[in-house]
Amino acid sequence: MQQIILGGDSLWLGRGAVKELGTLQAKRAFIVTGGSSMKRYGFLEQAEVALRSTGCEVYLHEGVPANPDTEAVLAGVRAMREFQPDLVLAMGGGSPIDAAKVMTLFYEYPELTFAAAREGRLPQKRQRTRLVVAPSTSGTGSEVTWAAVVTFREDEIKIGLKSNAFIPDIAILDPELTLTMPAAVAAETGMDAVTHAVESYLNKKRNPFSDCLAKEAVAGLLRHLGASCGGDEEAREEVHYLQCMAGLAFHNTGLGLSHGIAHAIGGRYGLGHGLINAIALPYVLRYNRRDDWAKGREQELAKAAQVPDLAEALLKLRRAVAIPHSFADVLSLREWQDGLESVTAKALLGSTQVNPAEINAEEMRKLLNMIYDGRLDDVALI
Ligand code: ATR
Repeated sequence: MQQIILGGDSLWLGRGAVKELGTLQAKRAFIVTGGSSMKRYGFLEQAEVALRSTGCEVYLHEGVPANPDTEAVLAGVRAMREFQPDLVLAMGGGSPIDAAKVMTLFYEYPELTFAAAREGRLPQKRQRTRLVVAPSTSGTGSEVTWAAVVTFREDEIKIGLKSNAFIPDIAILDPELTLTMPAAVAAETGMDAVTHAVESYLNKKRNPFSDCLAKEAVAGLLRHLGASCGGDEEAREEVHYLQCMAGLAFHNTGLGLSHGIAHAIGGRYGLGHGLINAIALPYVLRYNRRDDWAKGREQELAKAAQVPDLAEALLKLRRAVAIPHSFADVLSLREWQDGLESVTAKALLGSTQVNPAEINAEEMRKLLNMIYDGRLDDVALI
């Protein structure tokens, strides 16, 4: 038996959806956001006005950093305990959203520790706090998934914590929030969504529902991401919905090697998660071709997206949205060499363990170095 979960209570779709927050009749709303973008473009005010319209008190927790760590989460938990919200609204990119998911669970379960969380001992239900998420980037799919990625600084690794209690009750897909994304953020987060859809389709836990969502997401993202990054508003709206489909797909399957690599490199160097996936994915696809099943699945995806070769189509898309080809474009050789042993060991963990083709430490080191050097064709020789 396989259990399929398609998000929380509901998805709110469409421009201006954030202005409907008053209908939730919350009493004490705790808003979690990142830097200044949500305030700067007036989206926070829209949310606050809507919530206050029914007499709700609002607390604003700003400043969740990119790649939030355990400290950033605990700072939010302390503020939540003071304020005692009945609703948590996360608004912004994947960073404040994932942080808010974990904060809310720690708020509800004061005994919970990060040590237990890392061992997978997480409560699976929230008891009293509604969790509402309005993403302003288009990539993580976090608004519908059980995953929350936290950086553990002491070990230089990002870990995707998992609990059904992290699935937001309401996911607000208001494309207006994404219109202000700079092109580079749209490109990196969009490539993260592409990676979710591809890795879900190539995951052995695939099922007919995840297949359908992943195929639609890959085909649509290949079609619309370039235009979205170029500023086309309709394409940007499409991408916002497609990335959510990719989230629903991987949430019901798991991911693969590209995410294993992204969490190891993100934990060590703090680069953007989408950027690392975007660089790694074509190499990972080549690597996975050693597995006949994965090779066949890649061909099926190419057919669904109506492209002759999926890896080639991704390379073309990547060039169109100005994503570099190798880790050497974003990390110095010194930094790379200093981190290689540690990154190799950590990249074998997490999602790599559910990759369709197995990989050992020696192969991982070779693959990582090829991605660093940009030697895509050599991957077949590993
Ligand atoms: P993700 O995890 O989805 O990749 P993130 O780490 O939360 O994204 O945010 C990445 C960057 O995109 C941040 O600099 C963020 O700015 P703020 O911290 O000031 O919010 C920026 N960003 C996110 N959504 C944005 C939007 N709609 N308009 C402009 N900048 C945005």
